[in-house]
Amino acid sequence: MSESVNFEDGQKPEPDLALRPHSLGEFVGQEQLVSHLAVYVGAARARGEALDHVLFYGPPGLGKTTLSRIMAEEMGVNIVMTTAPALERAGDLASILTGLEQRDVLFIDEIHRLRAAIEETLYSAMEDFAIDIVIGQGAGARTVRLPLPRFTLIGATTRTGLLSAPFMARFGIVNRLEYYSPAEIGRIVRRNAALLDLAVNDEGIEVLSSRVRGTPRICNTLLRRLRDFLQVSGQSVMDASFVDATLTTLGIDALGLDAMNRRYLEVLIRDFEGGPVGVETLAVSVGEDRETLTDVYEPFLIQLGMIKRTLRGRVAQRRAYEHLGLDWREPLQGDLL
Ligand SMILES: Nc1ncnc2c1ncn2[C@@H]1O[C@H](COP(=O)(O)OP(=O)(O)OP(=O)(O)O)[C@@H](O)[C@H]1O
Ligand SMILES: [Mg+2]
Repeated sequence: MSESVNFEDGQKPEPDLALRPHSLGEFVGQEQLVSHLAVYVGAARARGEALDHVLFYGPPGLGKTTLSRIMAEEMGVNIVMTTAPALERAGDLASILTGLEQRDVLFIDEIHRLRAAIEETLYSAMEDFAIDIVIGQGAGARTVRLPLPRFTLIGATTRTGLLSAPFMARFGIVNRLEYYSPAEIGRIVRRNAALLDLAVNDEGIEVLSSRVRGTPRICNTLLRRLRDFLQVSGQSVMDASFVDATLTTLGIDALGLDAMNRRYLEVLIRDFEGGPVGVETLAVSVGEDRETLTDVYEPFLIQLGMIKRTLRGRVAQRRAYEHLGLDWREPLQGDLL
């Protein structure tokens, strides 16, 4: 299979190439999604057609990019990878599209950040497999319709709310990635520890799995840090007490929250009396941009039942107070939505 991976501007190199699953069979978790993808790939291959356009969305680090590469690998086609902010002019997109071969995958990360003009060019590319380009300037300018190969667009985004309805409608396969269960993370830890030649026992795996916020990327990052600590500790096996002590040293608490997650909760509870407070105000106080709050920090805190998003803003829940060891008071009438 000929995989050509093209890192356009802004695409961050992955530090854990070695740990990346390369097939649907190796991909742990997201079972229903994976089984559906296997059907779509199998059917498209049997017909000799390009896969329908795919959108992956969900919090960072759950495997959107990984699955996109796997789709191309399973289809046996090339993948060209880029990210929306790197596509500045319609010409950037046109040159990528015209360079594709039949059935190739074009992967666009952060697809909610596409410029409107580029998005509109994509509409006809996705639907008609053709784009209109303007040749020449001024009075002599004319529009030429360029045919494109039947390609597959795979978009990834941390949020769908920002995609326009006509854009969303052009993706035949739309998938949401969910946080992984501790058992699924456990399987990833076992697999990756073996790949890293790292000895860890069942109890060690259990402790780590419950403290990575259901996120494979965090799991892999912490596994590497644990490996460093293990090496200098002189201990040979990562057991529960080693993992627990090391994660605590790294500022990861019993629920897997890190310093930034706790700071979010502390600001919400101490500075804003638990809310409701608008996300903009909260972002300024925490010192992060709004998008990072809504896409990176909040989804897991919501999943844990620590905060709620209401029309009047963010509200801390009892569980957040208890986790930080603070007194919780029954909300006054009118505080809640
Ligand atoms: N199901 C899985 N099984 C094993 N490893 C996984 C799985 N999902 C993701 N990973 C690992 O976690 C890392 C993060 O995944 P990936 O980069 O695909 O996430 P993402 O959803 O694209 O994140 P972002 O939104 O930040 O771009 C990858 O390097 C991959 O090795
Ligand atoms: Mg990604």
